[in-house]
This record gives sequence, structure tokens and C-alpha cells, in this order.
Amino acid sequence: MLELDGVTSRYGPVTALQDVDLVAEAGRITAVLGANGAGKTTLLRTISGLHRADAGTIRFDGRDITRLSTDQMTRAGMAHVPEGRGVITELTVKENLRLGALGRSTHRDAVSIDDVVDLFPILGDRSNALAHTLSGGERQMLVIGRALLATPKMLLLDEPSLGLAPRIVSQIFGVIRQLVHEQGLTVLLVEQNARSALSIADVGVVLGLGKVVAQDDAAILAADENLRHAYLGY
Ligand SMILES: Nc1ncnc2c1ncn2[C@@H]1O[C@H](COP(=O)(O)OP(=O)(O)OP(=O)(O)O)[C@@H](O)[C@H]1O
Ligand SMILES: [Mg+2]
Repeated sequence: MLELDGVTSRYGPVTALQDVDLVAEAGRITAVLGANGAGKTTLLRTISGLHRADAGTIRFDGRDITRLSTDQMTRAGMAHVPEGRGVITELTVKENLRLGALGRSTHRDAVSIDDVVDLFPILGDRSNALAHTLSGGERQMLVIGRALLATPKMLLLDEPSLGLAPRIVSQIFGVIRQLVHEQGLTVLLVEQNARSALSIADVGVVLGLGKVVAQDDAAILAADENLRHAYLGY
């Protein structure tokens, strides 16, 4: 379980997260929703150690991880898939996947490239292709697959659906749901696409200008018309 207590993150004079309390239960999908600039990416960067919290505490499985480095976070079982689908474009799909196994956590049997290909068969078909030739959907599958090779307990996903066709989004979300249900993976899913995210999430957290404005079962948030209009854009 991941727990944030009073987390504040600033960029110079800009307060991107203010006094955020949040819980992501183990083995569940927690969606983090909110408009542009709400602080969603900063939240993931603060959890994974790419950005230092200015105040507050972050605990993962009871351990204080607020000041761990990103390497220590990987070994603790946290994998961050940042927005933008960054891959090494001049390496092949398989070579990119191999990078994911570096510094992996050792809390359970290691995930193999074959396991990732079982989840995303297109990555097997394209294993010798250079990453720059992939479509957006294939790249998203590659960055998720690469993160899984670190054998994480928890996956932080930043806007995986951005710019992808609905069919591809359902395929990717289907795999995420499968990992959660079959292997007990814990997921924090950041999305502007609130409707899709709430359809696969167990719990939703809504951010507005760096503050938590709602945190509840996904179905309850999806049924709240005022909240949807005010913060979720549908
Ligand atoms: N590197 C940075 N330097 C200064 N301000 C930043 C930086 N990154 C983000 N911010 C500011 O912090 C706030 C939160 O940004 P953040 O990227 O976390 O939002 P977001 O919810 O991920 O937005 P989006 O939906 O556009 O990805 C915004 O006001 C943004 O302008
Ligand atoms: Mg963002």
C-alpha cells in the first residue's frame, strides 16, 4: 500500500501539490484525475523520487520512502512509466525491454521478456524493429513492458491513453486490469481521460490545482455529475 500524508511539492514559487493525503491500496487500481496543470505528473514524480517533496511523508508497504533515490525506489518495487513514452529510438524493441531488467526488484520471480510478449504479442512480432518505427500504441506497450521487467509491486502510469485510438486504449487497460487481478499488482493511473480511467479503476482521486478535491470509489465519482462537470470534463 502507498500512503501520502500532507505532501507538498513546489517548483520555485509554484506550488504544484499542496498538502496531499492519498492512499493507494495494494492490489487495486487507483485513478488520479484532473485537468491540465492539476499536479498529476508532479504527484507521480514526487512518489518515484524524481522530484523531492517539500513537505509531508510518503510510505510504501509501511516504509518511509520520502527521500529514497529513483534507483532505491526501483529496488523497493516501484516502477514509474512517465508521460511521453520515452524509449531509446535507435535500439530495437528487445534491446529496450532488456534495459527494463536492470536494477530490478527481487521480491518475487523475475518477469521475463517472454512474459511481456505474452501480454503484448505485438512486441514479439516487432522485437527486432527499431523503437523509432513503432506506432504510439506500440510504444506505450513497450514502455509498460519495460517497466514490468523490473518486476514491480506497484506501477505508476502517467497518461498511458493520451492520443491513442479507443481500441488500443482498451487493449492496454485490459492488460493492466489482468495484472492487477491475476498478480496483485498495485496501480496508480494518472489520466485526463477520466471516463475510461474510472471504468477500470477501483478508486479515484481528483486533483484540482494541486489539492485533493475528492477521493472515493470509482463508481461513486463517476456517478457524481457536479464533480464530473467541474473537474473531469465530461
Ligand atoms: N518543471 C517545472 N517547473 C515549473 N513549474 C512546473 C514544472 N512542472 C510542472 N510545473 C507546474 O506545476 C503545476 C502542475 O503541473 P503538472 O505537470 O504536475 O500537472 P499535470 O496535472 O500533470 O498536467 P497535464 O495534464 O498537462 O500533464 C503546473 O502549474 C505546472 O505549470
Ligand atoms: Mg501531466
